[in-house]
Amino acid sequence: MDIKIISDNLKSDIIGRKIMYKEETDSTNNDAKRCMDYPDGSTFIAERQTAGKGRRGRIWEAEKGSEILMTVLLKPPLPPEKISAVTAIVGIAVCRAVRKSGINAEIKWPNDIICRGKKLCGILCEMSVTGIELNYVAAGIGINANTESFLGELSDKATSLRIEKGEPVNREKLTAEVLSEFDKCYAKFLKNGFSAFKEKYEKLCATIGKEVKVVGKETYCANAVGINEDGELLIEFEGKISALNSGEVSVRGIYGYV
Ligand code: BTN
Repeated sequence: MDIKIISDNLKSDIIGRKIMYKEETDSTNNDAKRCMDYPDGSTFIAERQTAGKGRRGRIWEAEKGSEILMTVLLKPPLPPEKISAVTAIVGIAVCRAVRKSGINAEIKWPNDIICRGKKLCGILCEMSVTGIELNYVAAGIGINANTESFLGELSDKATSLRIEKGEPVNREKLTAEVLSEFDKCYAKFLKNGFSAFKEKYEKLCATIGKEVKVVGKETYCANAVGINEDGELLIEFEGKISALNSGEVSVRGIYGYV
């Protein structure tokens, strides 16, 4: 990737003002952690990861030179329990940036971006906490940008911007768009909290309004009805509304991935 194109297209005050680029790294989330003293919004981009991380200990695989792999180091002055909302903010920013390129992206709670029910992007936020204080969040974003096809089982579950558009996307410009959207959302989030985004999130979220299978200590089916001020999913089960935290449960669609 040409970092100059990203910087030239960036409209941002904090996010992406400092960009560190590597051809190869273990994981851009690890790069951010190793540079935890860097300023808020520092962004780590790589062309290839040898140990890319997904949620729940999974491996994140990506084709070299085709995808967008980046992590934004965030230092919001917030308590750790507000971090689910940060994940939601990242989701909104990616969704908006992708929509600008004409693709009908939606959020699958808590942190996948999907199109036509297939995954376009995964978000992995890792945080460091001392006592009850948040040190930083490493917000990792992996976007399936220019992969031409997915093989086997993955072809039903994953898609790329290239597949959806029928032509390659400019990864540098899209990266700049994601970082610029993220910057706007982050500033507003720090000023007004997640409540300023609640309605917008609910509109962009494909999970809400659907029947979902909740997999945690117990497994049961419920209706997803909204999101709360902390970025937790509100579900209705046996007439009662409760909030689900993404760290504790996973939510699956009844009729497929969403
Ligand atoms: C998921 O859907 O499981 C989350 C995937 C997150 C992948 C991105 S790629 C850039 C950053 N570095 C990593 O090691 N993971 C995240």
